[in-house]
Amino acid sequence: MMVFSFIWTPLLAQEFEPLRPRVPVEERSMARKMLPPFGSTKRATPSIIAEGKALYEGKGTCISCHGESGLGDGEVGRSLNPSPRNFTNCRFHARRRDGELFWILKNGSPGTGMVPMIPVTITEEEAWKILAYERSFCRDWQR
Ligand code: HEC
Repeated sequence: MMVFSFIWTPLLAQEFEPLRPRVPVEERSMARKMLPPFGSTKRATPSIIAEGKALYEGKGTCISCHGESGLGDGEVGRSLNPSPRNFTNCRFHARRRDGELFWILKNGSPGTGMVPMIPVTITEEEAWKILAYERSFCRDWQR
């Protein structure tokens, strides 16, 4: 029995309703107005995206859960339920303003493995750069 649950748990874990908003309704309009210092993740330069990648894979530790390819299949993330967000899903990105993603980095997503990352792990400035990189997992975002 132990063996079966060990084998099946990671396979059964899935994202939980990735398109449903995470920011509570009373904070959403404020969150949606927050913008990166470089204007928008859509207009991030290749050098900002490269800095974001280095932070995603290094200091920010995002890679451990969200994975190198952004699929949500990092070494730690694979065993989490709900699963980490799959950043290659363009439909997810289309449903989120930059500020809503930033809100998550400040507050986490309560009841999940996504804990607050600002200010203990990363600064606000670093967070915006990481978000520019996260958006780039959706091929069309910065075109
Ligand atoms: C310990 C594992 C873990 C780490 C480390 C982690 N995440 Fe997550 N992340 C998750 C999980 C799990 C979810 C899904 C939460 C949910 O379903 O509400 C998530 C969701 C998200 C979301 C989507 C929120 C939404 O609006 O739906 C964003 C954005 C995000 N993470 C960014 C990051 C960034 C940036 C980092 C690094 C600075 C990071 N995460 C580090 C586990 C992690």
